[in-house]
Amino acid sequence: MQKELEVAIEAAYKAGKVLRSMFEKGVQVHYKGRVDLVTTADFESEKTIIETIHKAFPNHGIYAEESGIKEGTQPLRWIIDPLDGTTNFAHNFPLFAVSIALEHEEEMILGVVYNPISDEMFTAARGEGSRKNDKPIQVSDTEDLIHSLVVTGFPYDRSEVSSIIELWTYFTLHAQGVRRLGSASLDLCYVATGQMDAYYERYVFPWDIAAGAIIVQEAGGKVTDFYGGKFTSYKNEIVASNGKLHEAMINVTSRV
Ligand code: IPD
Ligand code: CA
Ligand code: CA
Ligand code: CA
Repeated sequence: MQKELEVAIEAAYKAGKVLRSMFEKGVQVHYKGRVDLVTTADFESEKTIIETIHKAFPNHGIYAEESGIKEGTQPLRWIIDPLDGTTNFAHNFPLFAVSIALEHEEEMILGVVYNPISDEMFTAARGEGSRKNDKPIQVSDTEDLIHSLVVTGFPYDRSEVSSIIELWTYFTLHAQGVRRLGSASLDLCYVATGQMDAYYERYVFPWDIAAGAIIVQEAGGKVTDFYGGKFTSYKNEIVASNGKLHEAMINVTSRV
């Protein structure tokens, strides 16, 4: 898996360079929905990542946010979010990332998340731990909700928000603080480093969470669905925590 990880890191650095330069120059913004944006940077970054991966592994499948599925001839498939945090990017707010994961029959085997502004490279390979800029990282050891910093996100489809907004209310009343940063992959990496204690979100897509989820798991954290069931990137929902808080999180998320 060493070569795959190296290629993922190379692709993330290259795409990060594209994003950094476009962030400084400004981009064209288009609407996918009423509030859901896509920019020329999303497309350029995705093109760079796919070219880099395809050159190294022409037979692997690809599942990328903007261009969809390209079938491969092997059971290996790359899950790509070329710009996670598009709304931040379009508003010139410097918090976004490139997210790349590799799955083998729906099981994530490696993940890479790169923040090109802070130059933070988060990586994980199954069974080999997680790293930030090549140094091992670990989840926090916070044990109770009232001392926890919880992070979340909301879907673009506003008709889905009413069913989950009560979770925001609950955690605002019962945690130390709640944050909405605008990049699911970075939310997960902050759980992996222990800067956040837990993250939950519903109506997410595989490219938002695939890489971040393995980074949390390999940093010693726990990842499940809203009911404590087995996590897969395809369930559209995720609860990630340092493990110690997981039950307290699930007790709340399972109510909606
Ligand atoms: C979005 C971000 C955001 C999350 C949304 C995602 P995008 O991804 O990760 O934090 O709340 O659910 O769709 O569109 O910026 O790649
Ligand atoms: Ca995303
Ligand atoms: Ca995206
Ligand atoms: Ca998007």
